[in-house]
Amino acid sequence: MAIILKGGTIVSASGRRQLDLRMADELIQEIGFELRPECDDQVVDVRGHYILPGFIDAHTHFELNNGVTGTADNFTTSSRGAIVGGTTSIIDFATPEPGGTLKDCLAEWNRLAQDKTSCDYSYHMTLIEWNTEVEAEMDSMIEEGITSFKMYMAYDNLRASDADIFEAMLAIRKRRGMLGIHCENGDMVNELIKKTRAEGHLSPHYHPLSRPPAVEAEAVERYLMMAEQADLPVNIVHLSAQRSLEAVIRARGRGQKVFVETCPHYLVLDDSLYDSPGFEGAKYVCSPPLRKKSDQEYLWQNIITDQVDTISTDHCSFNFKGQKELGMTDFSQIPNGLPGVETRPTLIYSYGVATGRISLEKMVDLLSEKIARQYGMFPQKGILQVGSHADVVVWNPQGEGVISVKTLEQAVDYTPFEGFQTVGKPHQVYLRGQLVAEDGQVIQSKKGRFISRGSSDWTC
Ligand code: URP
Ligand code: ZN
Ligand code: ZN
Repeated sequence: MAIILKGGTIVSASGRRQLDLRMADELIQEIGFELRPECDDQVVDVRGHYILPGFIDAHTHFELNNGVTGTADNFTTSSRGAIVGGTTSIIDFATPEPGGTLKDCLAEWNRLAQDKTSCDYSYHMTLIEWNTEVEAEMDSMIEEGITSFKMYMAYDNLRASDADIFEAMLAIRKRRGMLGIHCENGDMVNELIKKTRAEGHLSPHYHPLSRPPAVEAEAVERYLMMAEQADLPVNIVHLSAQRSLEAVIRARGRGQKVFVETCPHYLVLDDSLYDSPGFEGAKYVCSPPLRKKSDQEYLWQNIITDQVDTISTDHCSFNFKGQKELGMTDFSQIPNGLPGVETRPTLIYSYGVATGRISLEKMVDLLSEKIARQYGMFPQKGILQVGSHADVVVWNPQGEGVISVKTLEQAVDYTPFEGFQTVGKPHQVYLRGQLVAEDGQVIQSKKGRFISRGSSDWTC
């Protein structure tokens, strides 16, 4: 049986048209003017709604152990949040054990995700070590459809040396892969934390002061210099600061190809929140930290001028009670990360589209099409056209709400966006043609499938 969405406005990154859409057998079968239903077709009246390609979140940690504690959410609960919010695909970070193989890591991530995930999913493979065995394993990762890799310049248990990063770049270039790096100068972070603690400064207020913009911008500059030398287009994940983006713009001016991802929390929250009463500032501890309002405004301006390519969430949820509280007497022990997969589309619509900062087409590009192109999923995902997966969000532009942990699907005990007024929300969410969420409720769960990805489009 086919489903026909009738009377809505189909939006892509390049424009909008008032057309009907027929989906069956997981795919979009037809798009046209006043499609005529066949006898057993189900017709859904979506007048007054936008029809958008399912959103893709290319930066999640659905289930992660940071060595001390595990995330409050897992693939089951995070992905329920994803579909309710309109995100039909995610790319999670698979992270090997020290000394472990990429193959074992992939098997572990499949064990965590398979039969539990309610959206489609893939992984970036994290390279925490670099040697000839790891390089040899990259080929089998690419055969499995894992075409993107992640490295860290901070966190002592994860970070790679410049030599490792440069060698990995050459290996990724040979295989036409995509590299994303967490850019913070790990030595500077360690020194600043040491100094701050020695001065007896232990509250969340000091988290951003131990990871200032220079720490990020220096790492971005170094990364871009290495990438230029390796002749590799690269991605910067969770870019937060004006100074970092200025470095990217300079590199682009020299002709370098760079992808930039930012996150909703850098666009709507700022570092004054670390001074919230009591220990509440811990709710906002993530790395890089929240920045100044001026950084926020700079990011928005550069979204408008296409200097920022994508918005994903860095969803990584730790409960306030019992987990963030691990750093009650020392901010450096607060588990890093914020939940966000469920709230990204409505936040970007409310604070980007509804305020007139960006068009809906731009939002579709930032949250779906560009991500699909960048990560080798296009045109299966990221666009509504005949033959593409029928991952569809029927968006209600009038739907007003207030974000509250009480009504979110995710399991974590707080949201950093508590009390945010929103306008615009998903009415229905279809995953490969099946209705999986409606008006904030999960209709069908655990229908997600692994996405085998192709080569990245380095030119998009
Ligand atoms: O604070 C953060 N961002 N936690 C998640 C891990 C990472 O750095 O991406
Ligand atoms: Zn990171
Ligand atoms: Zn992350």
